[in-house]
Amino acid sequence: MKAKLEEIRLEALHALEGLDELDKLEEFRLKYLGKKGALTQVLRGMGGLPAEERPIVGQIANEVRNQLESELEQKTKDLKEAALTRRLEAEKIDVTVPGERPGLGRLHPVTTVLNELKDIFLGMGFDVAEGPEIEYDYYNFEALNLPKNHPARDTQDTFYIDNTILLRTHTSPVQIRTMEKQKPPIKIICPGRVYRSDEVDATHSPIFHQIEGLVVDKGITMGDLKGVLDVFAKAVFGPETKTKLRPHHFPFTEPSAEVDVSCAICKGAGCRVCSYTGWIEILGAGMVHPRVLEYVNIDPNEYSGFAFGMGLDRIVNIKYGIDDIRLLFENDIRFLKQF
Ligand code: DAH
Repeated sequence: MKAKLEEIRLEALHALEGLDELDKLEEFRLKYLGKKGALTQVLRGMGGLPAEERPIVGQIANEVRNQLESELEQKTKDLKEAALTRRLEAEKIDVTVPGERPGLGRLHPVTTVLNELKDIFLGMGFDVAEGPEIEYDYYNFEALNLPKNHPARDTQDTFYIDNTILLRTHTSPVQIRTMEKQKPPIKIICPGRVYRSDEVDATHSPIFHQIEGLVVDKGITMGDLKGVLDVFAKAVFGPETKTKLRPHHFPFTEPSAEVDVSCAICKGAGCRVCSYTGWIEILGAGMVHPRVLEYVNIDPNEYSGFAFGMGLDRIVNIKYGIDDIRLLFENDIRFLKQF
């Protein structure tokens, strides 16, 4: 029996030495020290021993138990320590390593230019108004003196939601919405997104941006229009910039004009950007048609006004020398990073 205990001691010590996982220690304890373990098994057989041998065997058994228990305790401690060291190693943070810089965005060129234009007009006392992009036919066409079947509707074909609701083709409906709510004096610009069912190419996009302007008060003349546009053009394109009004037709203004600015690139000498004319067309404008004023119950005999509408994307392209409107909508970071 003594030999058996010795054998258990050696086997257990050997097994313990080979253990390297905390999870396995309980299994070890059960196998050697548990109620059904090897040691207990031996002690159960003590009844068959001669009386004088029992205390000796008992003593050895106790010794083996004590030794295994203390070895197990030591092993547990060692493995726990090793696990902690491993974890600390794995979770180590080197606070001296330089941090990763988060990618910092920047304003889209259209936003940058819009902010600049807003500043210019706010400086002249304009307010900023807004209107919906999903618009009634009434505001987009009808009240702007473009009745159903008017041929000028063809140039502004759009996306219809039903017979009366569409995606606005210009920012001009905000003129009507503003005049419905507010009596003169009115002095607003309305920037926003507009839609047309145009094929995409270098100069066309089904989504683009416009800025509308509207001034209504007593005694407003075309001279005021020219003056405002002059200040605007000089502020955007430089102090030498000249403005030119050419007669045109819009159903919602009378008289109407298209407005050119002298080419900022060649100063009027002629270059690729201005198609060698020295001038660049930037907007449509005119005196608000009396019929439009009547639509919103403003007496055209008492009040007059001017309006204008410009393509914001075009201004951006002229300012930055960009020759393809698609670049503004593709949102390629490599392109946008340049501004
Ligand atoms: N709404 C016109 C367009 O999209 C531009 C325009 C022309 C606006 C003359 C005006 C204006 O306010 O008076 O083509």
